[in-house]
Amino acid sequence: MSGKDGKEAKEATETTEADIAVHWAEEQYFYPSTKFIAQANMTDENIYDRMSLDKCPEYWKEYADLLTWYKYWDTILDTSDAPCYNFFKGGLINASYNCVDRHLAKYKNKTAIHFVPELETDKVEHITYQELYVRVNEFAAVLKYECGLMAGDRVTLHMPMVAELPITMLACARLGIIHSQAFCGFSGKACADRIVDSGSYYLITMDAYFRGGSLIDHKEKADIAVEEAAQEGRKIEKVLVWQRYPGKYSSKTPMVDGRDVFVNDLLKKYYGVRIEPVPMPAEAPLFLMYTSGTAGKPKGCQHNTAGYLAYTAGTSKYVQDIHPEDVYWCMAHIGWITGHSYIVYGPLAIAASTVIYEGIPTYPDAGRCWKIAQDLDVNIFHTTPTAIRALRKVGPDEPKKYNYHFKHMTTVGEPIEPEVWKWYYHEVGKDEAIIVDTWWQTETGGFLCSTLPALQPMKPGSAGPGMPGIHPIVYDEHGNVVPSGSGKAGNICIQNPWPGMFHTIWGDRDRFVRQYFEKYCKNPKSKDWRDWPYLTGDAAVVASDGYVRILGRIDDVINVSGHRLGTKDIESAALTVLEVAEAAVVPVKHEVKGIEPDLYVALRPGIQPSEDLARKIMKAIVTEIGPIAKPGKVWIVPDMPKTRSGKIMRRVLGAISNGTSVGDVMTLANPEIVDMITKMVQGETKVEF
Ligand code: PRX
Repeated sequence: MSGKDGKEAKEATETTEADIAVHWAEEQYFYPSTKFIAQANMTDENIYDRMSLDKCPEYWKEYADLLTWYKYWDTILDTSDAPCYNFFKGGLINASYNCVDRHLAKYKNKTAIHFVPELETDKVEHITYQELYVRVNEFAAVLKYECGLMAGDRVTLHMPMVAELPITMLACARLGIIHSQAFCGFSGKACADRIVDSGSYYLITMDAYFRGGSLIDHKEKADIAVEEAAQEGRKIEKVLVWQRYPGKYSSKTPMVDGRDVFVNDLLKKYYGVRIEPVPMPAEAPLFLMYTSGTAGKPKGCQHNTAGYLAYTAGTSKYVQDIHPEDVYWCMAHIGWITGHSYIVYGPLAIAASTVIYEGIPTYPDAGRCWKIAQDLDVNIFHTTPTAIRALRKVGPDEPKKYNYHFKHMTTVGEPIEPEVWKWYYHEVGKDEAIIVDTWWQTETGGFLCSTLPALQPMKPGSAGPGMPGIHPIVYDEHGNVVPSGSGKAGNICIQNPWPGMFHTIWGDRDRFVRQYFEKYCKNPKSKDWRDWPYLTGDAAVVASDGYVRILGRIDDVINVSGHRLGTKDIESAALTVLEVAEAAVVPVKHEVKGIEPDLYVALRPGIQPSEDLARKIMKAIVTEIGPIAKPGKVWIVPDMPKTRSGKIMRRVLGAISNGTSVGDVMTLANPEIVDMITKMVQGETKVEF
């Protein structure tokens, strides 16, 4: 963090994303076209007045009213267990009903989901709302009658990007079953951790999926997950296996008798069966989404039904500007929060046609995304800076070869460099589309900062002001407000509750309070939300126009290619290798991925460094977490730079990896090691593995 205050109070041994952030200059505004404004869902400038801080929380009624209720709520915000809030108390609602059934009257034959397989030779599926209704009901029948699952039970999903994933989620929601989807790129072990923590008895997976042109065996991970979970004391009763090609088993891993069942076989018994949606209390948990956070195991962010659905519906309508006649494509993975909120729940709640693409953006070539956009007539596009950087690198001129026209584009998940933003605007958007840079988190359920597309100009490299009803504030380490326009960075917090925010960490209320609220809490006994600012964990600078520029995390979280990882999780994975005595992960700037982890390890006495050992460490990381967590480099060093009290100086390692100044190291316990490691990393000594 550039702010002096932040630097002083934070342990000077650590290094964070915010520490290595590039500070680009303020950019000029870009204005939305009159054509865009003329069709926008939100053009009322008064929305900011209606949603001013003094009117919180009453104004959230506007979002609640986008939903259909079995019983309308009576208390807008219950703070009796602050800061675990409940929105819309007293209401009864069902998320599956809101995303499917209620659209049948008007949009029965409209496409709800376009599923695009990675192989161009496979058929694109266009699932209408009626078809979605049928499939959600039939799978809900399987969950109810074959598995005996009921409201409040947890189920772990480890599914790839296929239409069966939202079908599974919506079938769970129909019955009030809490789904917990683990990103399919996570290892079986990582999936097991989520099974154990959530207390699931069922795992729902798929046999295989395509990635980069290969059919990946996914079922093998389920076997590992079940085994590992059993070792941690959680027995999985049944593994439900969807088939990538219905009726055909596409995995080499055998099915386990009595434990594994093909969903497609079970479904045969339930053709035509309808399952009434269960009216759920507004505050019933809808799903868990595990994410990395300050040290310790991944935590299950618990999102509750009504607040989450209201907030994702509202932001999909006003920020994504989705109308039922639009074709909307968010290229995130449903295994992450972006996919839950802005592929599934938000868009379907407002009757969108949402695209699900199975594969990677550059398969089989750099034009694939633009071809999909052209063929499906996509007019709203949503992706990450990593994908934009990668597409720009491999095919800067590809977009103009295809006949598609976006009216709206989103960037999410990482800071976007102004020159990348401009390529997105000019080349991908063809100077026609507006861009929203949406800043938010797994915990927040939906957007925190973004421009409202028809109301405010865009500024490359800045997310924009707080969303209507979201009131950010930047504090220094001592709780003083860092004023907008001061050019200083600080810890960005949100002053007020909003319906999309998570209710708690599953099974760990203390950690929830400690990690997100303790730092700036004005009175730990207070039931008044004004005393509980929410700490986001990001550093930010706010310009005088109120536009927020996010610098990155202030803790041990790193966003690698937009995937959120904990540096401590990677270190723990490296430490599972017996030869490793110490491990330190530091964030390094990367041209395409934004950030990449570099791993430094010191070995136990008597162990010699070797390429084999470096490979073994990489493998351990893939086994424990998944390939997304693979470090860019593994540096086996003779010793870690340390303070006199024995703390690893990650700050120094971070500076070495990023090629910046290591500062004064003479106070270290072993200053000589810094030079040695620098030479190693800069290639003067040959030891890279
Ligand atoms: O550091 C911020 C970064 O991503 C973190 C949240 O990651 P995750 O929970 O995986 O959610 C990602 C999708 C919302 C934040 O703490 N981040 C997210 N959006 C932006 C961003 N950084 C800069 N600009 C953004 N638009």
